[in-house]
Amino acid sequence: AGEGDPAILNLPPWSTSLGLPVAANPYGMPSRYERGLRRRESPGLTRVGGSSVAFTPLQGLFGIITPSGLHFERHHQGWHDVDPSKHRLMINGLVRTNAVFTMDDLMRLPSVSRIHFIECGANTGMEWGNVAVPTVQYSHGMISCSEFTGVPLKEILDMCGADYKQGRYVLAEGADGSSMTRTIPMELIESGEVFVAYGMNGEMLRPENGYPLRLVVPGVQGVSWVKWLRRIEVGDKPWATKDEAVHYIDLMPDGLHRQYTSVQECKSVITTPSGGQLLLDKGFYNISGMAWSGRGRITRVDVSTDGGINWREARLETPVLSKAVTRFNIGWVWDGKPAILQSRAVDETGHVQPSYGQLRKVRGTRSIYHNNAIQSWKVVESGEVSNVQVL
Ligand code: MTE
Repeated sequence: AGEGDPAILNLPPWSTSLGLPVAANPYGMPSRYERGLRRRESPGLTRVGGSSVAFTPLQGLFGIITPSGLHFERHHQGWHDVDPSKHRLMINGLVRTNAVFTMDDLMRLPSVSRIHFIECGANTGMEWGNVAVPTVQYSHGMISCSEFTGVPLKEILDMCGADYKQGRYVLAEGADGSSMTRTIPMELIESGEVFVAYGMNGEMLRPENGYPLRLVVPGVQGVSWVKWLRRIEVGDKPWATKDEAVHYIDLMPDGLHRQYTSVQECKSVITTPSGGQLLLDKGFYNISGMAWSGRGRITRVDVSTDGGINWREARLETPVLSKAVTRFNIGWVWDGKPAILQSRAVDETGHVQPSYGQLRKVRGTRSIYHNNAIQSWKVVESGEVSNVQVL
């Protein structure tokens, strides 16, 4: 602000008048000045909105929690605001007693609350062959991170007398018209990590995200987090359903497909500065981003401002949680010359996020799913930031 700035010299109306009463907004909404921050569809990506995706605006978020109203949406057959009094969860298959639970039945059982990311296996899927989208919202916005609350699935299967010896898999089925059915290995359920969630960020799930019940499968791609969850079947082998045999599989360079590659590998992205943004002037900038791994905690994030020649270790902000987003920050003084910003994450298993060159050597360029390559943002002298790929 310059000298004689009227915004500081003159008293604004909000300093000289009575404000609105309490509960004028009984369910609070963001400021009208934040209207630009919204979920967005990628124009032309799909033919109908009922089978599409709306991306989270990562460029405008802080910390690790995604506001519920900005959680990305991915539906195969549209969403419904399901009446919880009519919703049921059925357990069948290799169990001693088949059972049907109401929401009231489920909500009196012991609950857990845990912070986890959910990332669609197709996140960054448009960028396999070349740069395709301009902003981090479209390149990485199929990830959100929330605190989920619900009942461990193991608890429910124990109540039904599941046969853990024969029953090494479960099938999860949604109540929408998409026949969304996914196989989950029983080890994940026995670990206690998988739960049926009704809560998200302290309130009930939002309808778009599976209200009143969805599966939470930490570290595993979003498609397995079945929404409007209505049935769990215990079985002795994977089902190879349509969303396991035709979709969510990795096309390899030799033309074969890899199936059941469900864990989301170590990945990170700088969210500011990022594609589509403008640096106003040379000088200090806080580089901020997100890192996550489906295999556990993030242990380190390095940041480069010269396209991967030199790297500096970024500061990981607390909390650093397993299978959750970790926020990283690092200071940068821009000298006004062209720069390429990159982040590279490492997780507790030692997995180092690969470059596009490394990833393509193994996976080729024709896949859709599971792209965890290092993202590059190019800064030019005018201060404009754009999406580029560095091998
Ligand atoms: N569950 C049902 N019943 N129907 C769906 O279309 N989409 C899946 C999964 N669960 C889907 C579903 C996919 S592909 C993803 S990535 C996540 O839900 C998206 O969850 P979200 O819409 O809450 O972000």
